[in-house]
Amino acid sequence: MKRTIFLALLGSFSIIQSLTAQDLLINAYNRPHQSLNGEWCYIVDPYENGYYNYRYEPFDRMENPPRSAYFMDAKPSGKSDLIEYNFDTSDRIMVPGDWNTQKKELFFYEGTIWYKKSFDYNRENMENRVFLYFGAVNYRADVYLNGEKLGIHVGGFTPFNFEVTQLLKEKENVLVLKVDNKRVKEGVPTLNTDWWNYGGITRDVRLFETPNCFIQDYLLQLDPGNENQIHGFIRLNGPGSQNKTVLLSIEELNVNEKLNTDQNGVANLAIDVQKIRHWSPENPRLYEVTISTEEETIMDQIGYRIIKTEGDNILLNDGNIFLKGVCIHEEKPFGGGRANTMEDARQLLTWVKELGCNYVRLAHYPHNEYMVRMADEVGILVWEEIPVYWTIAWKNEFTYQNAENQLTEVINRDKNRASVIIWSMANETPTSEARNRFLGKLAGKARELDPTRLISAALEQSRDPGNPDIRTIDDPFSEVVDVLSFNQYIGWYDGLPDKCREITWKIDQNKPVLISEFGAGAKFGYHGDNLTRWTEEYQEYVYIENLKMISKIPQLRGFSSWILVDFRSPRRPLPGIQDYWNRKGLISDTGEKKKAFFILKEFHPPLIPDRKK
Ligand code: GCU
Repeated sequence: MKRTIFLALLGSFSIIQSLTAQDLLINAYNRPHQSLNGEWCYIVDPYENGYYNYRYEPFDRMENPPRSAYFMDAKPSGKSDLIEYNFDTSDRIMVPGDWNTQKKELFFYEGTIWYKKSFDYNRENMENRVFLYFGAVNYRADVYLNGEKLGIHVGGFTPFNFEVTQLLKEKENVLVLKVDNKRVKEGVPTLNTDWWNYGGITRDVRLFETPNCFIQDYLLQLDPGNENQIHGFIRLNGPGSQNKTVLLSIEELNVNEKLNTDQNGVANLAIDVQKIRHWSPENPRLYEVTISTEEETIMDQIGYRIIKTEGDNILLNDGNIFLKGVCIHEEKPFGGGRANTMEDARQLLTWVKELGCNYVRLAHYPHNEYMVRMADEVGILVWEEIPVYWTIAWKNEFTYQNAENQLTEVINRDKNRASVIIWSMANETPTSEARNRFLGKLAGKARELDPTRLISAALEQSRDPGNPDIRTIDDPFSEVVDVLSFNQYIGWYDGLPDKCREITWKIDQNKPVLISEFGAGAKFGYHGDNLTRWTEEYQEYVYIENLKMISKIPQLRGFSSWILVDFRSPRRPLPGIQDYWNRKGLISDTGEKKKAFFILKEFHPPLIPDRKK
């Protein structure tokens, strides 16, 4: 399956530069690899002097790029030679990591930064293939190896890889990335977001060595219509992948299947299993899965569950479920920029468990793979989202291709994660014909790629024309989604906390309702009466009144309050209170729990009426 990345180049003009990205390798997490994490050299290049000549012509479109192109990593050939850059004598920065929190002079920087890593590579077997994998780079990455351009990736939160088999040397390989986090109108997200635009190689960088014919992709999930059948496929890549034997073993389920790939290198499967213990928050049962060919063995840890809706109920393994949750941005606990380790994931989800929550909304973009694997492990249900946020360029075809590519990449990466139950297409997007078409197409793509999960989005809500205190959901996209979700801030942006007592929600659609955001800001340690803005008492009052109000919605089947931890935002400058932090966290950026934390912790979800037979 070759995917082509269409992208509109940055800036005022937009031309297509289509590159065929290599097939994604699934399960980067368990594959043997050489890590390229650690110290990299970097050069700040606000005028992209390392990419364009003084006539603004891109060096990498030239037949013979000059040595002044930074990706050539040129060195002076003698004492008179003129080279005006040098990675090796430049400053160092850690990968993975955003540049904003590593270098104070880069805190607000938005633009291009060049990264360089030199490495040796000893191939185990010259017949093998080698892939260069990135967990994510925000926002656009131009990747060069030993002076050759591998390609481009656009989108700051999904993995990508390039085959480098023919380019690798044993000694002194030079890997150079041009990383550009400038916001662009046709981007996904677009110019305006309420989160920090952390730039950089923000997730792991790895080299995978595989046999010539390798296990590239697989789907092993329960058939939604049959809770005792594992169905899906295993895809091999490379010469000889057709009509090849693949073994699938899940010892604890007595599964030892010998499969054969078809003419496309794919083995489709539907395996009846007895006595499977379905994955759930109470019992996050993961099974050790082994996939092997004569050349290779891949392991994975996979849970099996079924998620669906029936009328206004959400059913997990055929039982009604209420999603008591909280939203999370991808920031390290205790304020250190982009989260990107297992430890970060463990701490964040430990706080979620302390709240007595069984669910998280990973806002507003795909988080790193550690997060969804940790959710699998500890038993937390997950809403994943692509950053189709606010005022996207709905009529721009390249913007759509970019959004669809990011959706494809996150579904491809996480399709075997039991914890992931909802794919969200968007957040708070203004309704229009173009927007409805854009989102409708995205939802169709999501269902085509993965018919086993639910589709949602933070929809637009509106006021009853006759009575503004009656709220309703008349967003056209509500006809498409499986779960009706919307953000509401009564008591914070809309009146004071006691306004919650006057509001009623009139929702006619026979679908489950998830309140995808509610909340209020508070500076930890600032105390006063419960109507003094920014006090912990005000935030606590908003939680008390909101939880009472939403519990009256008959179809309410869950919520994710905004937000677990304070997070950085360029839209929140208020000195002494915000200081470029959005203070709606239940926990401060230094890890202290505010009073509202304990209100949510003590909240017990309303009982769900028995399933309508
Ligand atoms: C919006 C939006 C969030 C934002 C929040 C806020 O609902 O979805 O991204 O941070 O409100 O204003 O704090």
